[in-house]
Amino acid sequence: MLKKPDEPRVITVANQKGGVGKTTTSVNMAASLARQGMRVLVIDLDPQGNASTALGAEHTSGTVSSYEVLIGHAEPADAMQVNPDNPDLYCIPATIDLAGAEIELVSMVRREYRLHDAIRRGFLQEHGFDYVFVDCPPSLGLLTINAMNAVDEVLIPIQCEYYALEGVGQLLGNIGMIREHLNHNLHISGVLLTMYDARTKLASEVASEVRSQFGEVVLKNVIPRSVKVSEAPGYGQTVIEYDPSSRGALAYFDAARELAERGDYQPHPTTGPIGVSPEVYADLDGAERNEE
Ligand SMILES: Nc1ncnc2c1ncn2[C@@H]1O[C@H](COP(=O)(O)OP(=O)(O)OP(=O)(O)O)[C@@H](O)[C@H]1O
Ligand SMILES: [Mg+2]
Repeated sequence: MLKKPDEPRVITVANQKGGVGKTTTSVNMAASLARQGMRVLVIDLDPQGNASTALGAEHTSGTVSSYEVLIGHAEPADAMQVNPDNPDLYCIPATIDLAGAEIELVSMVRREYRLHDAIRRGFLQEHGFDYVFVDCPPSLGLLTINAMNAVDEVLIPIQCEYYALEGVGQLLGNIGMIREHLNHNLHISGVLLTMYDARTKLASEVASEVRSQFGEVVLKNVIPRSVKVSEAPGYGQTVIEYDPSSRGALAYFDAARELAERGDYQPHPTTGPIGVSPEVYADLDGAERNEE
């Protein structure tokens, strides 16, 4: 069994590039942690509603959802649904109504903090959540900004494919900007390599490039490309429920355990918003002293 974190860990899963595994990572990390005794919530902030589908949550238009929470028409507790397969796993679904929110929010007070205000005023503690994952749409608009302002930690999935790092510079710039102006605690606490195909040289090249650019914050566990992972949502399930002994399920299980056991990686003044392990942090501090 995993040790529960002292405070709920709230993690936004973001990458403005489409189809890199944000949703798959959100729901499977969540399900893995719920399987290991944690109480976990997934907030679907993508009007596509893919995370809601994978978690078996009702999300037809009009269902009380993340949209109502953002515009202040519902409390998060009224929007959350328990997962049919796991009583410790919850989802605040997204419906197509959320597609209009990006525009509706513009004229609202504290438009960048609507999600923060909804969940950070006692709700998480009241319901005993240990982990929250916020699944973002593939853009850097107001929905993603709301996600970034409601958390301390960002988890970036990177697909082991051509152009994997395309746009990542922009993402880092945005995280840096939000950290500077809107949410001083925001930082990257994990990077996860997804859809890794061990048979190709490309995958290992991408992996080493990402590791050299990001360093320690990249999780040691990588997620292999696996058909079971892509089949599971078709059954309204995570791969953790759909086929727990499949390679994809085991990889997510291990990655989730790694993320939990190593805890939050905090950034050092020299690393920008990129978190580093406590050991690396100490080394960097040492290096600074040597330079003096
Ligand atoms: N490890 C994997 N093995 C095989 N297929 C995968 C794997 N991870 C994700 N996929 C598939 O790749 C596609 C994209 O994944 P996913 O929906 O998680 O990406 P996303 O970043 O959330 O996309 P979007 O930007 O549209 O929200 C999906 O069809 C998913 O089932
Ligand atoms: Mg998605």
